[in-house]
Amino acid sequence: MSKKGTILSGMRPTGKLHLGHLIGVLDNWKRLQKEYDCIFEVADWHALTTKFDQTEELQENIREQVIDWISAGIDPEESIIFVQSHIPEIAELNLLLSMIVSVSRLERNPTYKDQIQELGVKDSIPFGLLEYPVLQAADILTFKGDKVPVGEDQLPHIEISREIARRFNHLYGETFPEPEPELAEIKKLLGLDGRKMSKSYGNAIYLSDGPKEIENKVKKMVTDPDRIRLDDPGNPEVCSVFGYHRIFTEDKAEEIDKGCRKAQIGCMDCKKTLANSITDYLSDIHQKRRELKENPEIVDEILAKGVNKAREIAKVTLEEVRKAMNLK
Ligand code: TRP
Ligand code: SF4
Repeated sequence: MSKKGTILSGMRPTGKLHLGHLIGVLDNWKRLQKEYDCIFEVADWHALTTKFDQTEELQENIREQVIDWISAGIDPEESIIFVQSHIPEIAELNLLLSMIVSVSRLERNPTYKDQIQELGVKDSIPFGLLEYPVLQAADILTFKGDKVPVGEDQLPHIEISREIARRFNHLYGETFPEPEPELAEIKKLLGLDGRKMSKSYGNAIYLSDGPKEIENKVKKMVTDPDRIRLDDPGNPEVCSVFGYHRIFTEDKAEEIDKGCRKAQIGCMDCKKTLANSITDYLSDIHQKRRELKENPEIVDEILAKGVNKAREIAKVTLEEVRKAMNLK
């Protein structure tokens, strides 16, 4: 293997991806795929931990996510892309790992506590929710991931994966590398209203949005609240439009900054410029998206190839695991 090691990461297929995913996650994956053997998983079982009663759109969401990944530059020739539920070995490892982790450890997981609050399910907590990090450890360890690129919110899960790997190695002999989190200097992109960009807040621009939608959404963005009239000088630092210019109109950001502070440009024009920048930024992605939407068999083939490659690795690991645990 000529690359630096194995990267394993995943996303729950909860719907179309937005610019926050592109800037925060996918651009990072794209960079890593040159240096590492990358495996990217559509975590459909994980999606069920909270959406077990809403499976009507699951298949559509899986497809859209894969289309977004590939359109954004995840290269299926270079990386393995697969759907979690197509690999039964992950479920087997999940079961085996659940033997060596304590309930109290999982109850201490801060994301679990947050989820219970958020979902308001105190009296009927799905077991799968408690077990979420064990399944994530199974994802990572099945593929012997060395590094796991994630956002900060996922650090508690990676910590649990590390503990489980250590414990397994201690009990049954050296089998798994201890996966390390890979925290990129993630560029944060806020939503149209200045809150975190999220589908549930309805404040996101999607990779699939066309020029007209982008223009309409940008028009609604919050600007410097103290800049009421055209000749009021503005403060780009408190304006979410400017936060976007920094990323999508990088080469003109300084000029825009000055123009805003000196009241030489109006917010309407500033937004028009931004809508154009985002449209340009997404144009290759849109073209690729169209191609994949028109030729669904390309996506089928990519997923079929991905699952074959992933399963080969998974089978070897599970053989090793069963042997180590005296299951055969
Ligand atoms: N829990 C991750 C998230 O919500 C998604 C995920 C599932 C994942 N399996 C993984 C991430 C394995 C990294 C490695 O973002
Ligand atoms: Fe924001 Fe641009 Fe208006 Fe300045 S000119 S407040 S950066 S939208």
